[in-house]
Amino acid sequence: MTEEELYVDYRGLYVPAALYSPESLKYAEEFNVRGDDIFIGTYPKSGTTWMQEIVPLIMSGGDLKPVLTIPSWDRVPWLELNRAIELKLEDRPSPRILATHFHYPMMPKSWFNSKAKMVYVMRNPKDVFTSYYHYCRMAAYLVDPGTSDEFLMKFLNGKVMFGSWFDHVKGWLNAKEKDRILYLTYEEMIMDLKGSISKICSFLGKSLSEEVMERIADHCTFKNMKQNKMSNYSLVPKQFMDTSKSEFLRKGVSGDWKNLFTVAQAEFFDSVYKEKLKDVDFKFIWDKN
Ligand code: A3P
Repeated sequence: MTEEELYVDYRGLYVPAALYSPESLKYAEEFNVRGDDIFIGTYPKSGTTWMQEIVPLIMSGGDLKPVLTIPSWDRVPWLELNRAIELKLEDRPSPRILATHFHYPMMPKSWFNSKAKMVYVMRNPKDVFTSYYHYCRMAAYLVDPGTSDEFLMKFLNGKVMFGSWFDHVKGWLNAKEKDRILYLTYEEMIMDLKGSISKICSFLGKSLSEEVMERIADHCTFKNMKQNKMSNYSLVPKQFMDTSKSEFLRKGVSGDWKNLFTVAQAEFFDSVYKEKLKDVDFKFIWDKN
């Protein structure tokens, strides 16, 4: 099906009509953020599910029960999804852990006046593209990506769910509230998961022993998370997610873009990337080599 059939326009961005509605987006805009809320912010395919496992485990002090008994989307619900209304997020006890794919200016007004914290995760956009490409092949509520060339143009022009990666990342990097945003990358989590967990603990003011952090890191390896049916999306019916086409927890590595991009596509991507990020003063870990 086409963009017109599957997506609705929300403030100039595509969002899938099956998951979002004018009511849910209004609910998110008007949401009453509390000072002790913890947000996980991502552009899609950047490590949201991973964080939906890690942050609850940090907050439970390493107790696995919440992540083994509650599906990730109810454990750390998306603020803007239809499901948020059903879950009555306003009645949840503090501290609430919430996820969002919102661009910075889309955050609820009350967020800007709050002390709520945000863990913002970024990922090499070529790997985001690759993960997104496979996700669009398996999720029925997303437009089929077509060829990698076709999807490349859509991705670079922001004609995919939640718009442009460049705008998303730039918006959040330029946020004024830097004292309450922790910027992390998927790549540093791959390289040093326990170190990343320790950073999140410090940011959230949670003091955990080395042993507990190690236990959390062990549970959150790709191999182990893939076994957790509360987090691997196997609970989703096949008509929504067809895992015979691609799994949701697919490869869990950095650099898989090399298996999808042609040399010409990578060069084109890099030239657009350079142009779009020329005014960004941030050293991305994937640019370092
Ligand atoms: P791949 O498709 O490259 O495998 P999101 O949750 O934001 O949609 O991101 C999904 C991506 O994060 C997928 O990437 C998925 O495999 C990866 N991911 C999820 N859990 C992970 C983990 N424990 N370790 C490494 N990658 C993980």
